[in-house]
Amino acid sequence: MANEDTPVEGSTSEADLRHAWTELADRILAAQEAYYGADAPTISDAEYDHLMRDLQKLEADHPQLRTPDSPTQRVGASQQVTDFAPVTHLERLLSLDNVFTLEELTEWIARARAGAEAAGVGEPCQLLCELKIDGLALDLVYRDGHLDSGATRGDGRVGEDVTGNVRTIGAIPQQLTGADVPELLEVRGEVFFPVADFADLNAHLVEIGKPPFANPRNAAAGSLRQKNPQITADRPLSMICHGLGRVEGYDFPSQGHSYQKLAEWGLPVSPYYQLLDTPEQVLDYVQHWGEHRDEAAHQIDGIVVKMDDVQVQRALGATSRAPRWAIAFKYPPEEVNTRLLDIRVNVGRTGRVTPYGVMEPVTVAGSTVEMATLHNAFEVKRKGVLIGDTVVLRKAGDVIPEILGPVVELRDGTEKEFVMPVECPSCGTPLGYEKEGDKDLRCPNAKGCPSQLRERVFALASRSGLDIEALGWEAAIALTDPENARPDPDLVTGEMPEPATPVLASEAGLFDLTVEDLRDVQVWRQPKVKGEPGPWVREPYFWTRPTARKPSVPTATTRKMFDELVKARSQPLWRVLVALSIRHVGPTAARALAARFTSMDAIRSASVEDLARTEGVGAVIAESVVDWFGIDWHQEIVTRWAAAGVRMADDISELPAATLQGLTVVVTGSLEGFSRDEAKEAITSRGGKAAGSVSRKTDYVVVGANAGSKETRARDLGRPILDEAGFRYLLDNGPQGVPTVG
Ligand code: IVH
Repeated sequence: MANEDTPVEGSTSEADLRHAWTELADRILAAQEAYYGADAPTISDAEYDHLMRDLQKLEADHPQLRTPDSPTQRVGASQQVTDFAPVTHLERLLSLDNVFTLEELTEWIARARAGAEAAGVGEPCQLLCELKIDGLALDLVYRDGHLDSGATRGDGRVGEDVTGNVRTIGAIPQQLTGADVPELLEVRGEVFFPVADFADLNAHLVEIGKPPFANPRNAAAGSLRQKNPQITADRPLSMICHGLGRVEGYDFPSQGHSYQKLAEWGLPVSPYYQLLDTPEQVLDYVQHWGEHRDEAAHQIDGIVVKMDDVQVQRALGATSRAPRWAIAFKYPPEEVNTRLLDIRVNVGRTGRVTPYGVMEPVTVAGSTVEMATLHNAFEVKRKGVLIGDTVVLRKAGDVIPEILGPVVELRDGTEKEFVMPVECPSCGTPLGYEKEGDKDLRCPNAKGCPSQLRERVFALASRSGLDIEALGWEAAIALTDPENARPDPDLVTGEMPEPATPVLASEAGLFDLTVEDLRDVQVWRQPKVKGEPGPWVREPYFWTRPTARKPSVPTATTRKMFDELVKARSQPLWRVLVALSIRHVGPTAARALAARFTSMDAIRSASVEDLARTEGVGAVIAESVVDWFGIDWHQEIVTRWAAAGVRMADDISELPAATLQGLTVVVTGSLEGFSRDEAKEAITSRGGKAAGSVSRKTDYVVVGANAGSKETRARDLGRPILDEAGFRYLLDNGPQGVPTVG
């Protein structure tokens, strides 16, 4: 952690305190220079915030340490040598104070409102909430509606003149239009690099031999501060306005009104701001965006809450650094720096060979991450990352962690380029592309490749497959690892014979396994590495086998596995279909196929055209199904499973009626009678769609205990709300006469 080696605690003498202060201030200044000056940050935003908080705390406890030029009293970088002419802003660009918890935010709202009331401007006291854009600040001056200058923030008083570059940004008008355009308008906003375009930019830079950017913010800063405006023009920069400097010729009564006017004049304002009345609504807004951070076009590092009324803003005023009428709520960091220790490859269940990064474990967005997929060799190249690099790792909420790019400035020359293997690391078969233009290398040895078999066995037992809980990752390894079939030692010599075939040489034999067979499958827990790898990437095959002999009596786990295998034989047809690992056939397509054809035989003998007529099953899936059944050893899986008693047809009379056909239902909060998966299953098995977020297209929102922002959103959008009883009614009878609660 950033503050661990900073001697704050236990410093007693004045000299010690001053030393601690200097050290913190120096580290902050160095970070500021790298961030604002060189567009190349060397520490993460979260580390920076920590240093700043430590310094603020030190100064609060020992006010004698605070100097006028302390980083806590200033905004941004000090002036330095740059390629751009200095411009003095008409009015100072301030920064924002931060809060990091909802309690702090609620306290801030109460304080600000009390302050407004004390100044006699308490009513109305609306709160304007908006996203905190992770870009770089830009100050624009319009005179008589004409764009006069554009400048970076600099130290808040003097910035850099980037007018030439600003003129190339499409979102920024050269000329304001509409009524009431003021004689002078100084407007501030954030320039950003759209997240969707970032990967392409890095790929292009790598292609032309230039260093890639670590993240979209750096890309925005680097693109705006180009000597050659032509380069800026080629970058898809955009901007959102979030405040005003000096204005002559127009009086804005409120922040919200200013956004309306700015938009009328042709300036870009955020589509995401909202005017709210209560602290609860603000917390809902914060929570909503915390869950949807990746939905905005730009990166978000928090929420800004502003007192909307300009009179209130004036009454509250500002400190030397930040206004008292606005605050930034910072989300837990989604981006951290970590070391890319290695790039390894995994062979998936369809033979796809996927490189993935192994990193020094870091906590990001609330979980520890040490692996992240790199998709394919082209992606590794596009991102420009080398083994040994410090990389920026991003994880947005529940979203899969992603390596954004390398921190090129921290390279020391020992980094190595990743080389994609040419042979399958699992079975040695030469790798190839299926067809021209493919990005994914594949191992063509689908039947015999141990890695593919292991992944298929793991997938078939998953929750969206046959749901065999005891057959997890460890058991899949244990069942398919050739070295696991260790017969008894030679009675005379005591030597162990060579490993033979694995317990399960093909999934065709899965349901023929006896308790005796499973006795040989000891399910070892994977040795705990530092941190908990997320569910998005499993360490594919780094397995330390214990040397101890296997137990000769079945363990509780082997019995459980056997019992669950027996039970799995009666799973519905769609789950059996998913378990076959037919490419592109996931739960949705499998459900649709099973509902229409009701038996494996009917699916097997259907033509591509007939299959493709199934709702939600296109030509690609249909072809994939027909291709799959065309392979002998695939047919053998079905035959052997059927012989072992696996269900190959649904009993139509058991299927629920399609009461939810064409309806989209969102379930939020916890229900008493349904787990999340059961609720989803109940919806989809009746022909409905179970969606994750509420929109205008949502037909019903089912609200259980502790429902949060989704319920609020449903009410805001006027979508019908059901409690659990209403949900049951809907499942049984469809929408006619369903009792709603809102
Ligand atoms: S208002 C006087 N609103 O974040 C208040 N700032 O960390 C000025 N920022 O200096 C700021 N999104 O450059 C405001 N929606 C937003 C913002 C925003 C990003 C930047 C801005 C500010 C910095 C503080």
